[in-house]
Amino acid sequence: MSKGWENWTASEVEDFQADFLMWYQQEKRNLPWRYNQDPYRIWISEIMLQQTRVDTVIDYFYRFMEEFPTIQDLAKAPEDKLLKVWEGLGYYSRARNLQAAAKQIMEDFEGEFPTTVEDIRSLKGIGPYTAGAISSIAFEITEPAIDGNVMRVVSRLFCIEADIAKASSRTIFDEAMRKIISQTQPGDFNQAMMDLGSSICTPTNPQCEVCPIQQYCQAYQENRQAEFPVKSKKQKPKDVYYVAGIIENQQQEIFLKKRSETGLLANMWLFPLEEINAARYTELQEQYDPAAWDLFSSSNVAEDSPDFFSDQEVIWQKKILGEVKHVFSHLRWHILVFYGRSAAPLTIDGRWVKPDDFPGYVFPKPQQKMLEVFENNLADDKD
Ligand code: ADE
Repeated sequence: MSKGWENWTASEVEDFQADFLMWYQQEKRNLPWRYNQDPYRIWISEIMLQQTRVDTVIDYFYRFMEEFPTIQDLAKAPEDKLLKVWEGLGYYSRARNLQAAAKQIMEDFEGEFPTTVEDIRSLKGIGPYTAGAISSIAFEITEPAIDGNVMRVVSRLFCIEADIAKASSRTIFDEAMRKIISQTQPGDFNQAMMDLGSSICTPTNPQCEVCPIQQYCQAYQENRQAEFPVKSKKQKPKDVYYVAGIIENQQQEIFLKKRSETGLLANMWLFPLEEINAARYTELQEQYDPAAWDLFSSSNVAEDSPDFFSDQEVIWQKKILGEVKHVFSHLRWHILVFYGRSAAPLTIDGRWVKPDDFPGYVFPKPQQKMLEVFENNLADDKD
């Protein structure tokens, strides 16, 4: 089968680029990392944008630049401070990789951001997409930046049937992009692709009537937009069930546990969690009605008090404070949040902290949601 892009003549490619870049000039979004071509700013923005929407990234981006205005500031930042600035963005390994790469730049490139695709690729956390984005936008190197959005646009443009969920399809999109990318303005071209993918050539209901490249689009001509991109289903995230204990001592301090140095949410602080199975989770849901108000009747504690964290001396409230769900890329956490009081030291490795001091700790999203559940209950109690 012939490849659609092989049939384009040089003048067709030129017309296409001119139309597309003109549209970008007129319509491009005013985003803070587009104010100049500073590779440091572009790098940070691209890493933030990898798994996060533009609207969310903007505030984080300003804050990050204020806290770490240079590569050197980032390289020498304490990890806690770095994670604090990243708090809520998720995928925290992105922040750790940024710092590792900043150190690499200080050591291997004399503190100057590298200027070739190969050197940029050598930095921790930078794959082909990000290397393409930085080298084209900051240095005008003719390198495609291919992410899911771009694959969607290109798959429609040429009716490419390769499965975009497969890594092996990348070379096909790479070849197509290299045929059409502007040699003189590759950074604008790549960003035009990004903007088109997010505003017009959307996953469902693309706005073909207002598309600047409609006349070049094979899927539009054949009315097959909805068939592209071809994408096999991802594996569903695995369900994991927990109870969380919000445990308070007699000094009104709450217990926090630091996660281990490696793995998911490494080094971050959460209320202690205990994994349970799905059946037990449902059982607890039925047994401890969140609407219950008979909370600490001590006489019957032993009979029907929850038996989780069983090696700790905690008196549990016999109701669920709330339920928290959080989806990571490969896991779906389900958490039943309980409140308990303890007059004894705990044998869990962690720390008692005054709620007023919580802002000094790095709380990932599921912890923020648990805290919200707790605070809502406190508010209810005051009514
Ligand atoms: N998504 C990823 N990179 C982007 C950029 N530079 N501008 C807008 N959206 C993006």
